[in-house]
Amino acid sequence: MQKAFVTGWPISHSKSPKLHRFWLDHHKISGFYEAVAIEPNNFREFLTTLPNSEFKGGNITLPHKERAYEMIKNRDEAAEMIGAVNTVWMQDGKLLGSNTDAYGFSANLDDFSTNWRKKKNALVVGAGGASRAIIHALIEAGFSRIHIANRTLERAKSLSDQFGEKTTAHPFSAVSELLCEAELLVNTTSIGMNGNNEDVMPNFSSLPTNALVTDIVYTPLQTPILKQAALLGFDTVDGLGMLLHQAVPGFEKWFGLKPSVTPELRNHILESL
Ligand code: ATR
Repeated sequence: MQKAFVTGWPISHSKSPKLHRFWLDHHKISGFYEAVAIEPNNFREFLTTLPNSEFKGGNITLPHKERAYEMIKNRDEAAEMIGAVNTVWMQDGKLLGSNTDAYGFSANLDDFSTNWRKKKNALVVGAGGASRAIIHALIEAGFSRIHIANRTLERAKSLSDQFGEKTTAHPFSAVSELLCEAELLVNTTSIGMNGNNEDVMPNFSSLPTNALVTDIVYTPLQTPILKQAALLGFDTVDGLGMLLHQAVPGFEKWFGLKPSVTPELRNHILESL
């Protein structure tokens, strides 16, 4: 029986066990996926002993993703660019690491938009770990102008320095004026999560009429940002699909079958939000 895990600290809130067990049941695979709570002080030992454990691989979440990146030398390009590892698996006796957040972001937009990859100009609000994954995804998708606006300008600058000339850093106060050129607006901050700072975002009426608006926050599913955009008539994509899609590559590595993100899976996870 193949076994996989998700580890973090804390980990009880993780949706990953529910998600992967849905696919295991659906495909009648006698595999096993469990949440393992590991304190930061014990993470090094956990990862070091992993190759000799019962696990074929697993997911790594907060606060261990950067530490996993430092420890795992065999990383794919996405992990390399994002500077964090969220998915690991054993291959030929070696532990390999990937970051599937950029894949999850793009696959979610692919599900709901036929033309987002044709757009060129994006405005990304926020400059944390999630923003890094999304900028990588946007560059891979062919965007040529990516504006990064953040409350702490230095963090936006540091991302722009890393990703190069297609990106520009701005203070959060520049969002209003950047909106009029943005064909894609992505919120990567916790604004709107559980009602946080709902009023911080400016009015979106200056967005181009064909703009697509997406938010990586999925609690609530319809964030204040998405609500405002929908009211103004813009196409919107919520963040739940990114969570679902980022899980696909790991499942395929551990259990040997590429699972699908379906409305049934979405409803199954929605029940627990
Ligand atoms: P993650 O890894 O999920 O991206 P993070 O690294 O804590 O999390 O980043 C959170 C992002 O939300 C940051 O861009 C943060 O801005 P700062 O870099 O200035 O801290 C942004 N953020 C959180 N609350 C915000 C608020 N009330 N207004 C504007 N930006 C906010």
